[in-house]
Amino acid sequence: MTQKILVVDDEKLIRWTLEQHLVKEGYEVASAESAEKGLALINEDPPDLVLLDNRLPEMTGLELLEKLNVQERGIMVIMITAYGMVETAVKAMKHGAYDYISKPFNLEEITFVIKKALEAGSLRTQVKQLRQEFSSKVDTIIGESDEMMKVKNLILKIAKSDATTVLIQGESGTGKELVAKALHYSSARADQPFMAINCAALPVTLLESELMGHEKGAFTDAKTSKKGLFELADGGTVFLDEIGDMDMSMQAKLLRMLEEKTFKRVGGVKDIKVNVRLVSATNQELLKAMREGGFRKDLYYRLQVVPIYLPALRDRGQDVLVLARHFIEYFNKECHKNVLGISKEAEQILLSHHWPGNVRELKNVIERAMILDIDSEILPEHLSPDILEGRPATSASSLTPVSLEGLVIPDSGLSIEDVENALVRKALDMANGNQTRAAQLLKMPRDAFRRRMKRFGII
Ligand SMILES: Nc1ncnc2c1ncn2[C@@H]1O[C@H](COP(=O)(O)OP(=O)(O)OP(=O)(O)O)[C@@H](O)[C@H]1O
Ligand SMILES: [Mg+2]
Repeated sequence: MTQKILVVDDEKLIRWTLEQHLVKEGYEVASAESAEKGLALINEDPPDLVLLDNRLPEMTGLELLEKLNVQERGIMVIMITAYGMVETAVKAMKHGAYDYISKPFNLEEITFVIKKALEAGSLRTQVKQLRQEFSSKVDTIIGESDEMMKVKNLILKIAKSDATTVLIQGESGTGKELVAKALHYSSARADQPFMAINCAALPVTLLESELMGHEKGAFTDAKTSKKGLFELADGGTVFLDEIGDMDMSMQAKLLRMLEEKTFKRVGGVKDIKVNVRLVSATNQELLKAMREGGFRKDLYYRLQVVPIYLPALRDRGQDVLVLARHFIEYFNKECHKNVLGISKEAEQILLSHHWPGNVRELKNVIERAMILDIDSEILPEHLSPDILEGRPATSASSLTPVSLEGLVIPDSGLSIEDVENALVRKALDMANGNQTRAAQLLKMPRDAFRRRMKRFGII
């Protein structure tokens, strides 16, 4: 692939000379006479390398560099400074420039520096990609339960079929994003981009231009034209997170795009065709949203050509412990600790917790425990009060069937909070106001019981 170089210099002769020379050297070259124009070109079609003069009218090269966040974007910058301006050069390097060159320079020198920078750039990209791939393959999805083995097998199957559209559903924290990445990095698209966007985080107009791109002047802030995610991810995967929150008008636009297999940038006339795999995810029940008119049926069926359902952590049996051990290892490395494992008692508590926040919650619980001073094992006292409180209520083994006879649920509904309030009062009544006994009756630590008393205004 031809590498792209952008020359930003206000001197026409320098631009022209560099352009002629670099094209001869086999590069694709664009040029801009000001930092503003340079920025527009970079946003529109990011080059591999920028030759950036510092002394420019209005915005200086350094100021442009500060705006660019080049390391994140993987753009190599070579700063051109006036002779003797070492300070500028140092600043430029601090802001992510790869190297600098002083004026006057000769073409041989510049060719050498460019070659070196592009080599370093491509190495950096490869390392980044390898690291991503390594940390995102199916093996990174921890779990041995039947449910999770099925999910992993399904991911490998989908990864082999090239273009299938996938919808990942599961409660919050079940690993939907992890699965989307594993799918991408296990597929033939692995060396192409994986682009994610959260549909709930952006207002609809912005979301449309982020996805489809826009032409210059399409709206007030559109000072330059810009590629959208679908164009940038060409050949790879686009991950639409929290698709359940997508506005109806955007849903219509996305559906049109999926049906026609082309789209137009906002304010554009040209039909654009790309080759991306669309993976979406939601923690909402889309079927319910569809029934209630908040999600389009036709779009739902387009998106979920293959559905992946991620089970809640509470339904994954021993995976809770497998994951807990995995996170202990992870935080041992991360925080230079040497925690050996979890005590049997703490294991029972983890197994019986309800995990409303799923794997994310478990990861947080382990991280929090490992901040504490732990001799060798995580003990119940290292677990957060929420988890300890949840123990009696959710422990499957200690559950005694409760008769609900006599309980009336009014038509207006009843919250669990109301039920808890009534239970706390009833237990106190039965224990003649003795809080310790009342807490025992509800199989709850006294602290937790008193917290509820406070919450319900009893004390
Ligand atoms: N099976 C798993 N093995 C290892 N780590 C996991 C697993 N599932 C989830 N995680 C970790 O738990 C955290 C939450 O996962 P992720 O962000 O993928 O969840 P999510 O379903 O997208 O959540 P949300 O609905 O809130 O966006 C991440 O740190 C992720 O790496
Ligand atoms: Mg997510």
